[in-house]
Amino acid sequence: MALTNCNRRPVILCYSQTGNTAALAEQIRELAGHPDPAVHLNPHPDDIKTVMNGATSLMIGTYSWGDGQIPERFLPVLEAVITHMKQDVPVGVFGTGDRFYPSFCGAVDELSARLSEHVDVLATLKIELMPQAGDTNAIRSFLHQLHTGTDPITDNDS
Ligand SMILES: Cc1cc2nc3c(=O)[nH]c(=O)nc-3n(C[C@H](O)[C@H](O)[C@H](O)COP(=O)(O)O)c2cc1C
Repeated sequence: MALTNCNRRPVILCYSQTGNTAALAEQIRELAGHPDPAVHLNPHPDDIKTVMNGATSLMIGTYSWGDGQIPERFLPVLEAVITHMKQDVPVGVFGTGDRFYPSFCGAVDELSARLSEHVDVLATLKIELMPQAGDTNAIRSFLHQLHTGTDPITDNDS
């Protein structure tokens, strides 16, 4: 697939094995509005430099594995992202997991911690398994936090 590098638009990078996190990435894209984010599912590390070129924001997501960990195969992608991302690009981290496991969506926390060593992570989103219609508000909140750096619920409280 040819990768364009001249478009300025949000970028969604997502790692998914059985489709739940890919479905979440697609719902985020649908709710993100204009300009339409580019979604890259299970990207190759060698493509990250091109993918990140022109990114106005980054939403990066994964499922959780092991004991709430980032899947091993996603780590080279993460390293490439850290190498190529610009400091001033807003970053949000999302993921799916299963509450059956003690560390629900632990990979979201790990990913957020790893990225926070290099950039500000403005928003996180954890969804159980396949996203449902009831998850729409959480996704909208995630997008709001990413774009404004504020939590809409906290704002209403003040
Ligand atoms: C062996 C195994 C370990 C898992 N460990 C966790 C975990 O520690 N925490 C969690 O929240 N979910 C865990 N999960 C659940 C997956 O993260 C969850 O099913 C996720 O939605 C899969 O995403 P995908 O469909 O995008 O691959 C585990 C699943 C498997 C099969």
